[in-house]
Amino acid sequence: MKGTKMKTITNLNSDKKYQDPLFKWPGGKRSLLAEIMKIVPGTYSKYYEPFAGGAALFFSIKPQKAILSDTNSEVVNCYVQVRDNPEDVIKKLKQYQNSEEDYYKIRASSPYSETGRAARFLYLTALSFNGIYRTNLKGIFNVPYGHKTNIVPCQQEKILNASKALQGVSVICQDFQEIKATEGDLVYFDPPYTVAHGNNGFIKYNDKIFTWKDQERLSKFAWDLSEKGCKVIISNAWHESIIDLYSKFKRVDISRSSVMAASSSYRGKVKECLFFY
Ligand SMILES: C[S@@+](CC[C@H](N)C(=O)[O-])C[C@H]1O[C@@H](n2cnc3c(N)ncnc32)[C@H](O)[C@@H]1O
Repeated sequence: MKGTKMKTITNLNSDKKYQDPLFKWPGGKRSLLAEIMKIVPGTYSKYYEPFAGGAALFFSIKPQKAILSDTNSEVVNCYVQVRDNPEDVIKKLKQYQNSEEDYYKIRASSPYSETGRAARFLYLTALSFNGIYRTNLKGIFNVPYGHKTNIVPCQQEKILNASKALQGVSVICQDFQEIKATEGDLVYFDPPYTVAHGNNGFIKYNDKIFTWKDQERLSKFAWDLSEKGCKVIISNAWHESIIDLYSKFKRVDISRSSVMAASSSYRGKVKECLFFY
């Protein structure tokens, strides 16, 4: 491992002072916000989150000028509809019950309207087993019912709060490298965690796997942005191959509890890195 500047922090409970993300998402950063916030700069122009997912950091800082993007078109559609048509999304969600029968009916459905798609997405991410979002190789959501009978499918207040935070925010379906950040902007990268060698215990939860070539492409892109004068923060796995990739950045190590690992041998404490410049 090359010599990045490093310090270690352990702790990590979720903090109630931050707004909840709109939906639970694999690799979501809700529980790490307190640590990430320590390195978020006090001032910047635009905020970019090009691997938005549940966008936990965006919802906690609610920047005035922001661009969220992700390659998952259901994520992007959900944010756009909640931003522009929250009442319609709420109306559709209110028609759904929390029952095994409804869950499998809704899971098998392909709503025609964009608000219908957003309602289906919010319903499934709320009621799936462990709140997991996972699709098969054809991109079809395939997680079983979670039997969480206490959850109300339509969380109206959460949707309205998210809609408020999303006003004026651009949400785009695109690869991370398409962002147009310039000097003074803040970019937070939170890619899927793949490493160069071995089984790191992170599950493949999306229809396209983020390859090692993508990790290399990302580290180079992040460095180029920092050289252009952008403020850059990257979350990634605590792994030798990743630490080598970001050897030019400053680094903080953090650890969190994990229930998302595919194998039980990987559950428990998982170490992650924050790189920044
Ligand atoms: C670890 S998750 C982000 C979690 C997010 N920070 C949160 O708080 O919920 C990574 C996201 O990257 C997206 N993604 C995967 N490949 C991508 C790519 N090439 N460009 C942009 N987004 C991508 C996935 O769809 C997923 O939503």
